[in-house]
Amino acid sequence: MTNEEQNIPTHIAFIMDGNGRWAQARGLSRTEGHKRGAEVVRTVLERAREVGVKVVTLFAFSSENWKRPKEEVDILISLFRQYLSRDIEELKKQKVRITFIGDREKFPSDMVKRMNDVERETSSFNDFRVVLALSYGARDDLIAAMKKIAIDILDRKYLISNIDEARVCEALSTHGIPYPDLVIRTSGEQRVSNFLLWELAYAELYFTPIYWPDFNEHDLDEAIEAYGRRDRRFGQV
Ligand code: FPP
Repeated sequence: MTNEEQNIPTHIAFIMDGNGRWAQARGLSRTEGHKRGAEVVRTVLERAREVGVKVVTLFAFSSENWKRPKEEVDILISLFRQYLSRDIEELKKQKVRITFIGDREKFPSDMVKRMNDVERETSSFNDFRVVLALSYGARDDLIAAMKKIAIDILDRKYLISNIDEARVCEALSTHGIPYPDLVIRTSGEQRVSNFLLWELAYAELYFTPIYWPDFNEHDLDEAIEAYGRRDRRFGQV
């Protein structure tokens, strides 16, 4: 059976929420929650690939997350740095294409270099793709896209009447990535929180009360099964 017959989503986007509450409930520091969260990322990517998902986007750090206490931001940055060296190296070996969306320039220069290198080195892999949203905010991305389009118009590359969905997609940081079919948000919160606002227009939303550090491969299977039972009409009858 093909993926379509089994109703496996091509692209799943995760809002990994609840690390802090998971830790608090156990009397642990928030750091422990984030560390455990990073381990869950490994499990989820492995399972997603196994069942035939082609693209996974992970909302790891929002443009608003910079406003958290400095100690927590520093801990998250060091976790991402570790992830960029160890985990990403492993993903490269597994021929996973890695892409970063968001304002990477806000991170230390060694991390920016690593992100650029990894993107380039994995750009020819096409079996499985991981998109890491770091310092990402959909409104910022849309504003940047509007500026690019405005410049193209001023440069007379095309006319205002030629602006269409494809041109907007091209101007976004997610260009070339299929729209997400399914969004999974953990921890019981039921909102989109400035994540992929344009790209999620027809995505199925799945909310689970499970905190991200407790989310496992069975929970992922359950979410995919629930997706398979949804009737996607894309505005049609
Ligand atoms: C939300 O939980 C989670 C984050 C802001 C960070 C996400 C990071 C990870 C899952 C770990 C590292 C990921 C990678 C890719 C290495 P929260 O802190 O908002 O939890 P709370 O709402 O319970 O406080």
